[in-house]
Amino acid sequence: MSNLANKVVWITGASSGIGEALAINYSKRGAKVILSSRREEELNRVANSCSGETFCQVLDLSKTDDFERIVNTILNRFKRIDILINNGGISQRSEASKTTLEVDRKLMEVNYFGTVALTKAVLPVMQNQKGGHFVAISSLSGKFGFFLRSAYSASKFALVGFYESLRLEEEKNNINVSIVFPGFVLTKISQNALSGDGQKHGLLDNNQKGGISAEKCASDIIKGVQKEKHQIISGGAEKWGVLIHRLFPRFFYKILRKKSGN
Ligand SMILES: NC(=O)c1ccc[n+]([C@@H]2O[C@H](COP(=O)([O-])OP(=O)(O)OC[C@H]3O[C@@H](n4cnc5c(N)ncnc54)[C@H](OP(=O)(O)O)[C@@H]3O)[C@@H](O)[C@H]2O)c1
Repeated sequence: MSNLANKVVWITGASSGIGEALAINYSKRGAKVILSSRREEELNRVANSCSGETFCQVLDLSKTDDFERIVNTILNRFKRIDILINNGGISQRSEASKTTLEVDRKLMEVNYFGTVALTKAVLPVMQNQKGGHFVAISSLSGKFGFFLRSAYSASKFALVGFYESLRLEEEKNNINVSIVFPGFVLTKISQNALSGDGQKHGLLDNNQKGGISAEKCASDIIKGVQKEKHQIISGGAEKWGVLIHRLFPRFFYKILRKKSGN
């Protein structure tokens, strides 16, 4: 897509899964890609699979005090930021009754506050350049709750409230906002998910095993962002849950009760 040539696209969570697939796909389309997450070697590995100009910027979503400095580093190098994809995040695999409040806070800290803080650090840049696009990766768990996901689902619902409001406020500055709701995607999200005591879950869940590929999800996201869609839903059969939930809520929860959280 030629209108992506030389666009500056910043992706968090670019060291793995959906973020990795987004980085590779955007770079193939001619975008300059900034890759961020905590693990530098993994970012370098992904950057080596990209085709065009890339820049690896280590960033921890729970260390928001660093963001102003990091945004300045990016601006000094690229002069602008066209698209920020807020993709970095962690999941949960534990019932609410067995989850410490510390874990609830950790999920909100990374998935919600870290994401919002980075967006707030980039917002003045997009306001000054009179244009830009924020993309927030929520989840189908940001549409309805699910087993073993109380804190995760809450963090993904919270993103929806923030970014829908931001879209209304920033339309006047030619700033777009797309919110993405992936279903099950085959990545390391379940291995990296937190158990109730904060330990890593460490297992590949059946739901993820049967999920769509990260490449398919990335391609759906890129197409949706190009079309400036407000909502992008990506997944297998589970994505129909959004419609069924809206039209036939009782029937929806009857089906959902029979599903497993892993
Ligand atoms: N896979 C699914 O089924 C699914 C479904 C719905 C939504 N999602 C969402 O999609 C996004 C990407 O997840 P994924 O499926 O690709 O999982 P993944 O393979 O586990 O990737 C998660 C990414 O987030 C980064 N990350 C985690 N904690 C971070 C922190 N504190 N600071 C900065 N980066 C951090 C990780 O990098 P480092 O470890 O290097 O920091 C990694 O690059 C997440 O927001 C997830 O909630 C996934």
